[in-house]
Amino acid sequence: MDNNELINKIKELKEKKNAVIVAHNYQRPEIQDIADFTGDSLELSRKCAAAKENMIVFCGVKFMAETAKILSPQKKVLLPKIDAGCQLADSITPAEVDEYRKNYPDAVIVGYVNTTAEVKAKLDYCVTSANAVDIVKKINSKKIVFLPDKNLGLWVKKNIPEKEIIIHNGRCYVHHKFLKEDVLNARKFHPDAVILAHPECSPEVLTLSDVIASTSGMIKYVKESSAKKFILATEEGIIHRLQKERPDAEFYSLGNAQICFNMKLIKLIDVYNSLEKEVVEINLSDEIIHKAKLPIDRMVAL
Ligand code: 13P
Ligand code: SF4
Repeated sequence: MDNNELINKIKELKEKKNAVIVAHNYQRPEIQDIADFTGDSLELSRKCAAAKENMIVFCGVKFMAETAKILSPQKKVLLPKIDAGCQLADSITPAEVDEYRKNYPDAVIVGYVNTTAEVKAKLDYCVTSANAVDIVKKINSKKIVFLPDKNLGLWVKKNIPEKEIIIHNGRCYVHHKFLKEDVLNARKFHPDAVILAHPECSPEVLTLSDVIASTSGMIKYVKESSAKKFILATEEGIIHRLQKERPDAEFYSLGNAQICFNMKLIKLIDVYNSLEKEVVEINLSDEIIHKAKLPIDRMVAL
């Protein structure tokens, strides 16, 4: 089957099975193009919960599909490639969260949405890269344990110096590869460009960038900006979406384009197989769903 045939088959199957396809902003261009919605991790989970369809094909990584399942337990959530993980999410275990709780009994434990369902089940609050600073500011505690991303934690700490923030030592290998020298070179060769960085980048890169935002924040910024040239310190897949939103503008990756290999695992054939065979279904116990939803609900309520 060539790509056009595959795309037609996917559309047919999607109708037949009453399914919705969602894709993260870092997915392959052809996957973004067949999706009903593209967006950031939490945005997509919310779209899934609001969708009328009862089958969801989640084109992203496992923690994202799990978050969709937590928010839509009655729906069938499929991840076309079950080995699409996230090294950052895997950098913290439930046992390590228990350790933090034991060692810092008076702290509130805040975890990034990039965590497994089992870890979420042990958090007090969940945050996203878009709202981490706001949520931690609003939490009624001076002492916070922040996990798992060190760079995002340091960004939160920089913005809220009045709080004591204990930060786990996890990192996204994709974002941590951007260097201060890359930003300095970009400034030299593209002085007219706006440099946007994801808060998973190192503090040195964030300090020198113009805009610090989640992937959805970057898209919003670019759509509203009158600038014509943008440099992105995030996974290169976002450029496909940005170019569609602003065909009049130029987009470049900062330094060497960085790729999240897990985000590129899903191909059109996998979406087709996923719909046809209804695989791989995300199954979580009722207890984990109930417990993991609490920190998300608390985040939404703040
Ligand atoms: P966003 O929530 O900003 O889309 O980021 C997800 C992610 O995995 C960043 O590496
Ligand atoms: Fe995880 Fe980093 Fe890939 Fe995002 S880019 S899914 S944080 S490994």
